[in-house]
Amino acid sequence: MMDRRDFIRLAGLGVGGLGLAPGSADALATGPGPVAPRGRGAGHAGGAGVAQSATLTADTKAVAFEGRTVTAWAFNDSLPGPPLRFRRGDRADILLRNELPESTIVHWHGLDVPEDADGHPRLAIAPGETYRYRFDVVDRAGMYWYHPHTHGRTGAQTYAGLAGLILVGDEEEDSLPLPAPEDEVTLILQDRRVETGGSPFEHRPAMGPDMMIGHLGDAGFANGERDAEVEVRRGLVRLRVLNACNARLLDLGLSTGDPMTLIGSDGGLLERPSSSRRIMIGTGERLDLLVDFSGHPAGTRITLRSFPFEISGMMSPGNMGRGGRGRGMGGMQFAGLPQGAAMDMVHFVVGDERGSDPGPLPARIASLPAPIDGEVARRRDFRFDSGMMQHLINGRSFAMERVDHEIRLGTTEVWHLVNDSGFAHPVHVHAGQFRVLSRTGGRGEVMPWEGGLKDTVLVLPQERVEIAVRFDRYPGLFLMHCHNLEHEDAGMMMNFRVVE
Ligand code: C2O
Ligand code: CU
Ligand code: CU
Repeated sequence: MMDRRDFIRLAGLGVGGLGLAPGSADALATGPGPVAPRGRGAGHAGGAGVAQSATLTADTKAVAFEGRTVTAWAFNDSLPGPPLRFRRGDRADILLRNELPESTIVHWHGLDVPEDADGHPRLAIAPGETYRYRFDVVDRAGMYWYHPHTHGRTGAQTYAGLAGLILVGDEEEDSLPLPAPEDEVTLILQDRRVETGGSPFEHRPAMGPDMMIGHLGDAGFANGERDAEVEVRRGLVRLRVLNACNARLLDLGLSTGDPMTLIGSDGGLLERPSSSRRIMIGTGERLDLLVDFSGHPAGTRITLRSFPFEISGMMSPGNMGRGGRGRGMGGMQFAGLPQGAAMDMVHFVVGDERGSDPGPLPARIASLPAPIDGEVARRRDFRFDSGMMQHLINGRSFAMERVDHEIRLGTTEVWHLVNDSGFAHPVHVHAGQFRVLSRTGGRGEVMPWEGGLKDTVLVLPQERVEIAVRFDRYPGLFLMHCHNLEHEDAGMMMNFRVVE
């Protein structure tokens, strides 16, 4: 067994992942073997049509956790799932094997893939079955992720451990002075319940506050470990962060108060870097950050934490019932820490070794198309309503076969996302990336980390967010939903069909 430090290093630096040599058709069939690092700059040279194949087997896994053995669900016996590394232009060929006791299907969050490769819940496979995904990796360099999308069970299956990263590289990214691959740390951040005495991977049926607020934990985990420590070199480090919590918003910052340089978000690099001390992301969102550890002596411990926050108009156990931790919503039991509670997510320990010094970034690091290119073909409103133990979009609950909207391929639409409820709704759209145009109410502005390509946008109580969407590549049936997984599972999801 690897010790925890080694495990985090492997997971963080991606040398244990499902990368493989170009052109080999089946080298990954048995999971995370000893493969060469395929981080940025370390992979094949790119070019269209290079096949990358993998098998992902979803199965139960016994995990040692604080002196007990608990059961998790894992891909290829790896917690979190093995990272999948691609170059833009690769062809992915992935076999999903379901060894779980219930049906499942995997979705590639953020990637623009054909309808039959998108993991729509109607495609779920029974225990013992397989599903083969074939798609071209057309998206920009960036960090995407994969997780199950089984209707009504996405929250439970993702929480059980079924989530992993997808790292895409391209030439635009290669051309930038970024930290060496050894100075790149990928982090899957989650909150889990450790104080209930059960398994921190077990998700009981969402009822009461869990169903209204979502499944909130009481401890921060990074890459499957509580209180994870990652050793970093004294230099510039690239932190690539995913909020993979079921329901918790993270207001991220460093314990030292040091600034973080923001270079990318969901759909890859931003046009310009910017500096922030706090960045709030909802579930499903990603950040690409540079942090300079060179000013700290070896041995310094620096924590990436979610700082406490309050959001006006947001319901919490404290204002729904008798209040206080443990009770709320009319006295119903509430487990986990409230939304907005402080939570340490991961600790960095500064090592002796000096890191790489890539030099200063140019003022412009990437070029993005204009958010709206040409005319707006159509505007649509979507109201995200929660109340009376229901989560609805425009008054409707998800129906597997009902097509809620038809959208013309190759046209731009503006969608107006309205939240008059007392809960946060991180709204996610499948089939590619969108742009955030405006926010009124609540925070009242588009945040710096929302300026690039996005697949998920946080809509807080009282906020109205306008996004520009355009589906250019694949016709078919896709989803839009709240990425609070308990809201999604309760029906805050809809089908749209892209038509030619
Ligand atoms: Cu990350 Cu439809 O989900
Ligand atoms: Cu998605
Ligand atoms: Cu929601």
